Amino acid sequence: MLGTRTITNATTLAMSPQTPELDPIIRACRTSELPTLAELARHIWQQHYPAIISQAQIDYMLQQRYHPAALQTELDTPQHWLDGLWLGETMLGFANYFCTGQPAEMKLDKLYLHPHWHGRGLGSLLLEYVTARARQHGCDTLTLAVNKHNTTAIKAYRRNGFEVAEQVVVDIGNGFVMDDFIMSKAL
Ligand SMILES: CC(C)(COP(=O)(O)OP(=O)(O)OC[C@H]1O[C@@H](n2cnc3c(N)ncnc32)[C@H](O)[C@@H]1OP(=O)(O)O)[C@@H](O)C(=O)NCCC(=O)NCCS
Repeated sequence: MLGTRTITNATTLAMSPQTPELDPIIRACRTSELPTLAELARHIWQQHYPAIISQAQIDYMLQQRYHPAALQTELDTPQHWLDGLWLGETMLGFANYFCTGQPAEMKLDKLYLHPHWHGRGLGSLLLEYVTARARQHGCDTLTLAVNKHNTTAIKAYRRNGFEVAEQVVVDIGNGFVMDDFIMSKAL
């Protein structure tokens, strides 16, 4: 259970007295940390997505989007951010977000948390953090895409003020599609 929380650029949490050992922070990832992030992504995807998409699509999307070279592009692209949620030296999760080019719109492109840490409010913490970052950049809309069958994520997004705006089916190559809801939140 989380205690009081302070959202800053490097977000810190003051934890409840029962869990004084927990003091996670959110900060920008470094190039040297991208292999760790890729491994965390692989673990989360293998745990979470077999119930939603095929193993072949999981393998394809991991290679396409979570190879360290692809992640490096996120670090190198202006107005793109890739931030990790850390507990000491351990990365628990991460968020990737960028300015879309539409006026005052930020897109949350990745939001992932190690399964062991689900259900403690840390996903909401990452969402609050990205919301604060979007506001810092003058955005009035935060948008995202989520698989229509990803019920736990949709629940977390609704809890944090996102609503379904539209449904899309996006061809991502190799015969695969992303069958998504577009959700958005007015800031
Ligand atoms: C989406 C995801 C990041 C949400 O993470 P999460 O930490 O479980 O989500 P939340 O922060 O909203 O946690 C809320 C749960 O924690 C509980 N909780 C406990 N302490 C809490 C606190 N201090 N604050 C808020 N919620 C708290 C809530 O009651 C809620 O439980 P419930 O779901 O039984 O109602 C996570 O499920 C995930 O990584 N999923 C796999 C990857 C994925 O699908 N990503 C999205 C791709 S679009």
